[in-house]
Amino acid sequence: MKQPAAITTAIFTTCAMLLTACGGGTNSSTNTGTNATPNSATNAAATTSISGAIPIGIALAQTSNVALLGQEGFVGAKMAEKYFNDKGGINGTPIRLVMQDTGGDEAGAINAFQTLINKDKVVGIVGPTLSQQAFSAAPIADRAKVPVLGASTTAKGIPEIGDYVARVSVPVSIVAPNSVKAALKQNPNIKKVAVFYAQNDAFNKSETEIFQKTVKDQGLELVTVQKFQTSDTDFQAQATNALNLKPDLAIISGLAADGGNLVRQLRELGYKGIIVGGNGLNTPNLFSVCKALCDGVLIAQAYSPEHPGEINAIFHKTYVNQYKKEPAQFSAQSFTAVQVYVEALKALDKKTKVSTMPIDKLRTELNKELLAGKYDTPLGKISFTPVGDIVQKDFYVSQIKMDKDGNNGKFVFLK
Ligand code: ALA
Repeated sequence: MKQPAAITTAIFTTCAMLLTACGGGTNSSTNTGTNATPNSATNAAATTSISGAIPIGIALAQTSNVALLGQEGFVGAKMAEKYFNDKGGINGTPIRLVMQDTGGDEAGAINAFQTLINKDKVVGIVGPTLSQQAFSAAPIADRAKVPVLGASTTAKGIPEIGDYVARVSVPVSIVAPNSVKAALKQNPNIKKVAVFYAQNDAFNKSETEIFQKTVKDQGLELVTVQKFQTSDTDFQAQATNALNLKPDLAIISGLAADGGNLVRQLRELGYKGIIVGGNGLNTPNLFSVCKALCDGVLIAQAYSPEHPGEINAIFHKTYVNQYKKEPAQFSAQSFTAVQVYVEALKALDKKTKVSTMPIDKLRTELNKELLAGKYDTPLGKISFTPVGDIVQKDFYVSQIKMDKDGNNGKFVFLK
């Protein structure tokens, strides 16, 4: 069950008041003046409604190591903006994505969320990229009663942050075990497993718990658990420690740069067994890190480019035309998050014109509407649990296939 929304802090209210008073918004918000009282920031905000394009906030990492994941999210969101605006937007009114770079840490995510909420006055936010960032930034939106849709956050506990926090990125508990089962299908003789994880990251701590449980549930022997940091580049000590125990399977929970370097160093030290990578390695941006040595890594997927249905066919075709490669999971998930906002706004607008609603009421009604809806998306048909987690049907496992020179690769989906 969700915790009741926390009480807005004095600091936050002051900050919101200053920003509102400074009129810092770059969007087309107008003050209807109907309920305004001169010395009440809350009432001032409440009387502001949207005129013109409807702003949706995108808070993802465009810089830092985390941009290896975040940039794919931006691409998917931008594609959704164009696609749904070309189709008429919100019953004739376009949406407008407001992008804020979170960088790779919590402070960047908090800044981005505060700007989107108080200055850009978005109706809802997609993001942030990392669960580690979400645990700091999403409570701010929750207290301000601004909907948040995670589109890559997969740690346990994200939707439970609050009533206004949901996600379209299915949690580690559902996705991660699939890749271990695929490894066992490829090599039923696997017995000894070495697990590696980034201990400074909430998602990786959450994912490794699931991997370790799966190893035990499958009757395998967990011979070692090696820890590292997402900022590490040298994994000689951890890799050597693990390889001395002669594992038949290595499982890595990290992000793309650290995870890719660990894959490379395990292979350079002579490891020949199967490698399973977690959700943080689920990006073609991994290929430039481990190059030819990425070949063979198994990664579970929450999106397949081949998923049947019209919306995925359109998403897939548009992406391939534009980028000359298959769409990545994080792009499909952020496209889906924007789609959820668009369809929920359309449904809401049919009941009450969203342009007539004060922004705080619009955010609250939008949150209710989006959680109640059913959506046909590139991920398939989805809906939300009462707590705000995605309900999704189909999952996949892919295996990385690299060209010999290591410059190009692809995710091959296993049958
Ligand atoms: N799935 C990763 C996270 O939740 C990116 O942090």
